[in-house]
Amino acid sequence: MLNGAFGNKSNSLMNEYASLLGDAVLRHRARVAEHSARIEAELASKVKSEFIANMSHELRTPLNTVIGFSKLLTEHERRRLPDADIIEYATLINDAAGHLLSVINDILDISKIQSGKYTLDSREVNVEEIIQACINSFRLMASEAGVSVTPQIAYDLPVARGDAVKLRQIFTNIVSNAIKFTPRGGSVTIEALRTNTGGVTVLIRDTGVGMTAEEVKVALTPFGQVDAGRARWREGTGLGLPIAKALVELHGGQIEIRSKKGEGTEVAVILPSRNSVSAIPINEASSFQSIVA
Ligand SMILES: Nc1ncnc2c1ncn2[C@@H]1O[C@H](COP(=O)(O)OP(=O)(O)OP(=O)(O)O)[C@@H](O)[C@H]1O
Ligand SMILES: [Mg+2]
Repeated sequence: MLNGAFGNKSNSLMNEYASLLGDAVLRHRARVAEHSARIEAELASKVKSEFIANMSHELRTPLNTVIGFSKLLTEHERRRLPDADIIEYATLINDAAGHLLSVINDILDISKIQSGKYTLDSREVNVEEIIQACINSFRLMASEAGVSVTPQIAYDLPVARGDAVKLRQIFTNIVSNAIKFTPRGGSVTIEALRTNTGGVTVLIRDTGVGMTAEEVKVALTPFGQVDAGRARWREGTGLGLPIAKALVELHGGQIEIRSKKGEGTEVAVILPSRNSVSAIPINEASSFQSIVA
């Protein structure tokens, strides 16, 4: 046991050492916080300028289609367009307007989520039915892309609680990415499992281009797109994944992304058991930050 002058000296040395160590830890924490704040600010500003470039493309392209082809139709009297051309132009206008509507809906969704005014329906839902409906809606896109889409549903999948329309939107956004970012000949699997707490986990795996850890962060930022600066080989607004994440969190669940560049991506949607779900106000549930001021 320490006592006397030696003990006092040792105590004061220990105190001094503890205070030096404490200062060093505080300085280190401040440096780390400053560094991550700088990285976040840089990311936000990069995403913002890419957003403006990309959004004007996403809005202008379909609008130009609508204006251009509807103008041709108004000149029908003079041009005497054959029926096949009229149908083709009307189809192009319809597709472009549909795309425009979905971009606008995404922007409205994200603003609603960010303002905390998003409400969910809360009923018992059959996740298998939702997954099957989602896969059916992607049949054409998947076959055109040359990508196979296979469901693997556990026989004991429990009923979940939530909003069927929003759950469909979550899976649609994630599966559309899986198909979009997987080259021809690749595959997408959608596995649904029971978690050991009675919830549902859906794993959407693809053999596509994959992402680095940094790129996953960009992908989860509203309007963030990987490789957005270069010639992008796929279109989109960069809202699908952040919207899916926010909607999962609104259900009391979470999204996990595991990805490896060049090998593929796995997105896990983890929904809690139907007995443990209660309505969660979005501003507590979501980690969104407003990027577009
Ligand atoms: N499965 C995936 N494999 C590789 N990259 C992906 C995958 N999912 C998302 N990403 C990357 O993350 C970005 C953001 O995805 P997100 O779904 O938010 O936007 P998007 O697909 O570009 O546009 P949209 O708003 O139409 O969904 C994508 O642009 C892509 O770069
Ligand atoms: Mg997407």
